[in-house]
Amino acid sequence: MSSDRILHPQLRERIVSAEQAATLIQPGETVAMSGFTGSGYPKSVPLALAARIEQSHAAGTPFRIKVLTGASTAPELDGALAKADAISLRLPFQSDPDARKRINDGQLEYIDMHLSQVAQQTWFGIYGDIDTAIVEATAIREDGRLVPSTSVGNNKTWLDLARKVIIEVNQWQPAEIDGMHDIYYGTALPPQRKPIPLVKSDDRIGEPYLRCDPDKVVAVVLTDKPDRNSPFAPIDATSERIAGHFIEFLGHQVKHGLLPSNLLPLQSGVGNIPNAVLAGLGNSGLRGLHAFTEVIQDGMLDLLKSGVLASASCTGFALSPAASEEFKRGIRFYRERIILRTQEISNHPELVRRLGCIAMNGMIEVDLYGNVNSTHIMGSRIQNGIGGSGDFARNGYLSVFLSPSTARNGSISSLVPMVSHVDHTEHDVAVIVTERGLADLRGLSPKQRARALLDNCAHPDYRDQLEDYFDRACRESYGRHTPHLLPEALSWHQRWLDTGSMKAN
Ligand code: COA
Repeated sequence: MSSDRILHPQLRERIVSAEQAATLIQPGETVAMSGFTGSGYPKSVPLALAARIEQSHAAGTPFRIKVLTGASTAPELDGALAKADAISLRLPFQSDPDARKRINDGQLEYIDMHLSQVAQQTWFGIYGDIDTAIVEATAIREDGRLVPSTSVGNNKTWLDLARKVIIEVNQWQPAEIDGMHDIYYGTALPPQRKPIPLVKSDDRIGEPYLRCDPDKVVAVVLTDKPDRNSPFAPIDATSERIAGHFIEFLGHQVKHGLLPSNLLPLQSGVGNIPNAVLAGLGNSGLRGLHAFTEVIQDGMLDLLKSGVLASASCTGFALSPAASEEFKRGIRFYRERIILRTQEISNHPELVRRLGCIAMNGMIEVDLYGNVNSTHIMGSRIQNGIGGSGDFARNGYLSVFLSPSTARNGSISSLVPMVSHVDHTEHDVAVIVTERGLADLRGLSPKQRARALLDNCAHPDYRDQLEDYFDRACRESYGRHTPHLLPEALSWHQRWLDTGSMKAN
C-alpha cells in the first residue's frame, strides 16, 4: 500500500500497522469512530482491536470500550467487536446481527437515539470525554486536513473533541471524491447558536475538508478495503405495490397544488420499499427533484444519472457493489450533484422543517391512531434503531411510513390496536402506506384516523378482528376520544408470543 495520499510530512512518519495502532487504546476508553450505514467506517483498527481484546479476555483481563459512531457500520467493526465482547456501551445506531443479539440478550448496553442529536449531546458532555477517535479518510492534505471518505457522520465532532486520533487512509476510496463534502464549522453551543445559512437543499455552506490537529494524531494506518456495499434484493411485488400507491398520491398532491411539480426535498430510508419508491419516481415523469436525506442508495444514483434528481444532500452512502462501481466510474458527474455533510446538518430538524422535506421511512407497526413503532419487535427486542427517521418524520412537510400490511409470513398484522413501542407519535405521522393502499391521516381526529387506516391499509386477514376491536372500544372505552380496551390493547402481541400468530382463531 502506498503512502502517496499522505501529504503532511509529520503524519507520514506516524504510519503504523493496524495492530500497533490498536495497542494505543486502553480498557474503559470511549472510542468514537467514523462510519454511517456501511460506508466510511474504519476497516482495520477495529478488527485488530477486537483480536487484542479477545487475547486479553483469554488471559482473564477484562477489556471493554464504549463505541460511538455516525450510525451502523459493518462486520469488521460492530460484528468483530460484539463477537469479542468488547463493547460496554454502543450508540447511536447499529444494525449488525451479532451486536443485535448481544443487545437483546441483555449483554450490551445500547442507546438508540435521533442521529441529529449525537454531536450536540457529545459537545454537551453527556457521554464524557472522547478518548480516541478512529476516522477513515481518503487522503491527508499538506496542512493536515483530511479529505473525508464515503461518509461524514460525526467525524467533525470526533476530531474536534478526541484526546487522540487514529486515521485510516483507505486507498480503495476514490481520490476524486475530493470536493464532494461540505463540512460546516458554524455550529456552536446555546446560547451562541446562529441560524444555519442553508437555504436550498443543494447549498454549500462549509468547506470540503475535515480540520484535524496533527499533534493529536497518534497513528496513521493505510488500508485498501471496500465499504460494506451489500447487494439489494430485487424489488418484489409488495414493495412495487406500496411504491405505486405512494407515487399516485404524490401525483395527486401535485395536481391539486399541494406540492410543487418537482415536489419538495426527498428523504428516503434504506431498503427494498424505499428503493421501489425511487424506481417509481424514475418512471413518474417528474423532473428536477432534490433530495435532502441521510443516505444515498442505489435508487438515488439512478435518479441522478437519469436527471430526474438534480441534486442530493446526504451524510453517507449505502450502495450495492454494482452501484459502488458505477459511483466510482461516474464520480466527476456525481461530484457536481452530491453533497456529503455532517449528520448534524444532513438531519438537522430546523433545516428539515424549513426545507419542507418529504420523509419516507419504513416501520415495524402502526396502531389504529397512527402511532408508529420503527424499532422494537413485540415491544422489547430492538431491530435496528430510530436512526434518522425521527429527525425527518417529526419535522418534515410530509411524514410517510411505508410497510407491508403483514410480517412473518402473515402471522403478524402491521396494523395493531396499540403499538408495542412508540417511536413516532400520532402527532408526527402524516401518511401510512401498505400494499393495500394509502391513508392520509392529516386533518383527521383519532377515530377518523382509525377509519382511514382500517379502510385503506389493513390486511383482509386482520380487518374483521381490527374492526371488532375498534367497534367495542368505541362503545366500552373509558374515554371515547382515543378509544382503547386496555386489557386487550397489547393482547395481539402476547398472542403471537404464545401461539405464533396474531390471528384470534
Ligand atoms: N412485527 C414483528 N417483526 C417485524 C414486523 C412486525 N410488525 N415488521 C417487520 N418485522 C421484522 C421482519 O420480519 C424482519 O425480521 P428478520 O430480519 O428477522 O427477518 C425485520 O423486522 C425487518 O423487516 P423487513 O420487512 O425486512 O423491512 P425493512 O428491512 O424495510 O426494515 C425497519 C424495516 C422498520 C426495521 C427499518 O426500516 C428500520 O430499521 N427503520 C428504523 C430506522 C430508519 O427508519 N432509518 C431510516 C432513516 S434515514
